[in-house]
Amino acid sequence: MPDTTSALGAPAERREGPAKVTGAARYAAEHTPDGCAYAWPVPAAVARGEITAIDDTAALALPGVIDVLSHLNAPRLVEPEDATLAVLQDAHVPHRGWYVALVVAETLEAAREGAAAVEVSYAEEPHDVTLTAGHADAYVPEDSDGTSGEHVRGDADGAFSSAPAQVDVVYRVPPLHNHPMEPHAATARWDDGRLTVYDSSQGATTVRDALASMFALPEERITVVSEHVGGGFGSKGTPRPHVVLAAMAARTTGRPVKLSLPRRQLATVVGHRSPTIQRLRLGARPDGTLVSVIHEVTSHTSRVKEFVETAAAATRVMYPSPHARTTHRVVPLDVPSPSWMRAPGEAPGMYALESAMDELAVRLDLDPVELRLRNDTREEPDSSKPFSSRHLAECLREGARRFGWSTRDPRPRSRAEGPVLIGSGVACATYPVLAAPSRASAHAYPDGSFVVRVNATDIGTGARTVLAQVAADALGVPVERVRADIGSSDLPNAPLAGGSSGTASWGWAVHEACTRLAERLSGQHGQQLPPEGVGASADTAGTADADSEYARHAFGAHFAEVGVDMVTGEVRVRRLLGVYAAGRILNARTARSQFIGGMTMGLGMALTEHSTMDKAFGDFAESDLASYHVPAHADVPAIEAHWVDEDDPHLNPMGSKGIGEIGIVGTPAAIGNAVHHATGVRLRELPLTPDRVL
Ligand code: MOS
Repeated sequence: MPDTTSALGAPAERREGPAKVTGAARYAAEHTPDGCAYAWPVPAAVARGEITAIDDTAALALPGVIDVLSHLNAPRLVEPEDATLAVLQDAHVPHRGWYVALVVAETLEAAREGAAAVEVSYAEEPHDVTLTAGHADAYVPEDSDGTSGEHVRGDADGAFSSAPAQVDVVYRVPPLHNHPMEPHAATARWDDGRLTVYDSSQGATTVRDALASMFALPEERITVVSEHVGGGFGSKGTPRPHVVLAAMAARTTGRPVKLSLPRRQLATVVGHRSPTIQRLRLGARPDGTLVSVIHEVTSHTSRVKEFVETAAAATRVMYPSPHARTTHRVVPLDVPSPSWMRAPGEAPGMYALESAMDELAVRLDLDPVELRLRNDTREEPDSSKPFSSRHLAECLREGARRFGWSTRDPRPRSRAEGPVLIGSGVACATYPVLAAPSRASAHAYPDGSFVVRVNATDIGTGARTVLAQVAADALGVPVERVRADIGSSDLPNAPLAGGSSGTASWGWAVHEACTRLAERLSGQHGQQLPPEGVGASADTAGTADADSEYARHAFGAHFAEVGVDMVTGEVRVRRLLGVYAAGRILNARTARSQFIGGMTMGLGMALTEHSTMDKAFGDFAESDLASYHVPAHADVPAIEAHWVDEDDPHLNPMGSKGIGEIGIVGTPAAIGNAVHHATGVRLRELPLTPDRVL
């Protein structure tokens, strides 16, 4: 047997790398079947109302225009579970930008011109898109998933009002947009009642199931392929209207249809992070130990569906306090539907909690690392369950050591280089350990090669590579002999790449299938395998935290150093360092990429990213990458990700925790705390743009 001890954890290079950099890898919009037509959607031009008429005469008269679909003629669909997918089904306009028509043409240009020529008349209704903390329509949602709603421990108000040290502050995070590099796109084709779709999605099984239900088709008559995906960050975690529109248009016209959403429309139709208004009250003893934590979050949702940005959920995990209340309130407005964006809930919630902890440290004249160490715990505060592992203190200590924290002068405005004030800050991070049921198969061939099959999705993470490593480890063979086939709903069903749970879910099934295959092969006693090979499959159950006697979460600590230019108001991050405790790291190279990717997104959340809801217009003002500022290379300084090894037997067979989202979680607070240390000024609304700093 060759030495395969390095299969798991090794910094293997991603296998599709050469295909991507040479342009050989094909994304959803790069499939052009023979006879392919092109579609362009028409967004609603009012913030709320009813369509009274659609005049497509001018559009249909344009050369190349094939068809104009609207609620007047589009196929009737079975009502979807996700109401954002019920496009072109009725005359109602729930928000500006809701799709009201779709033009199909011989070329992209003709489709676009046709869309501009469709005349839609509306009966406008008054709209309300303004989120306020005391909005009359705010309600506490049902706690159906254990993360939304309200959780109460003890007498939080009483304990807060009698606490020797108090912090009572409000933090605001604006609407944020995922803006993946590859816009949402689908190419759909019907052949003899069989639907094939190339979709840019985080989970092709989920898309296949939604289409099967809406088009009333058996699942085996639909194939959804998501072979390469140029990022999603949650916005491709659920099926989106473009895939439904492409499938409808292909059926109506009898042509393959390609629909690639223009970036200008993405801000409206594929979700956003809801803005949050978060009031934090921390009550503590003079030594810093918390006696009361009250975290109240108000966010918005659309009138199409309820989505809760569960920003108080991480507060239930972080620090022990005998008294606590964590509350979500949601306000339905005439806004586009919010949805998942990297670490939904945790990212804005931990910005508020970890900023408030910094305020408490300043109030008590305590080192902010020490304050967190004094509030460490072996039990999850909300559930009283023991953590399966929690090496937060190790992350804080290791981060402080690597960052050089001990030399920091705690006084604000204690360091300057000319007009630039320099400060440093720390914040913790956490993200739950999730895993969903998955299937996988594994095959061994006479030439000594192995193939594992699972409908995993690679959204840029390196899923193929890591799954081959998991398989090689379970089979006891070199990783080069294993191929991982992913990215099609014809492969064994698998959950989406989301909730930082992909590797755990798919890897679990791959590990199981490979373990069974290894057992079968050992029974073959070295006999020649048949030409078709030998296979095994697995169907794993995943894991829900409610079923476990352990609370399972990843933890981390972020350290930031900033320079604040007091002439221009510009904040530059000079150094960013994260240390994580996330179980076993399965691939050191791709893991590092995910950590620093999350931290970079957190840097954007702290300093540059925000969307503005225009009250009168009823939609976001920013709809391109010129106005919505994601960090560029020049914005990202020395950035480091490290981890402490965790050996946790209560996770999955690989011993891993999710790593895709935790990087964004503590970064904004670490940067905000560093800005306070640099300037002595506490800013409580993101992003920290020059107009706010000065
Ligand atoms: Mo992620 S926001 O769970 O795709």
